[in-house]
Amino acid sequence: MLITEEQIAEKTQELAEIIAKRYPPDAAEGDLLLVGVLKGAIFFMTDLAKALSIPTQLEFMAVSSYGSSTSSSGVVRIMKDLDKDIAGRNVLIVEDIIDSGLTLSWLMRNLKTRNPASLEVVTLLRKPDALKTPVEVANVGFDIPNEFVVGYGLDYAERYRDLPYIGTLHPRVYGGE
Ligand code: XMP
Ligand code: MG
Repeated sequence: MLITEEQIAEKTQELAEIIAKRYPPDAAEGDLLLVGVLKGAIFFMTDLAKALSIPTQLEFMAVSSYGSSTSSSGVVRIMKDLDKDIAGRNVLIVEDIIDSGLTLSWLMRNLKTRNPASLEVVTLLRKPDALKTPVEVANVGFDIPNEFVVGYGLDYAERYRDLPYIGTLHPRVYGGE
């Protein structure tokens, strides 16, 4: 166990209060558009949306980065694109975790070409490697050690997403001691 259910809930509330202050509820840009990156961000996204005191709309993208299953290459393919035009909207990308930051920096560049009024990021987790990437993340829940984590949306081979907390995997799970 790395982060408990209670710690996640507390942090989500904290982030929601910061974010709500940034976006006036009656903005000309319309409701804040939360763009969740499937599948990992779903748990955090729904809890964040509920904690926000401002109205939001939810959109999803699925991307897959070429490379091994535990490290990303920065070459990203869109598996599911947004259903809506984001031009002129306030867009907040909701991420579960930023590791190398390569996926996110690609996504930011891609979404910027669609001319949103603003584009920011909130991530529940960030690993130290992400700090080397020139991608600006306004809102970070927890900085965590460089270990593979699961739970609360995060998976290992599609398992453990349903855990209500975030934990690290025992090496036994992936064939170690
Ligand atoms: P980059 O390196 O591009 O990668 O920032 C981000 C994506 O990699 C996945 N990822 C993880 N997934 N536990 C997971 O379940 C982890 O510890 C982990 N580290 C990176 C995740 O899909 C994220 O969006
Ligand atoms: Mg992901």
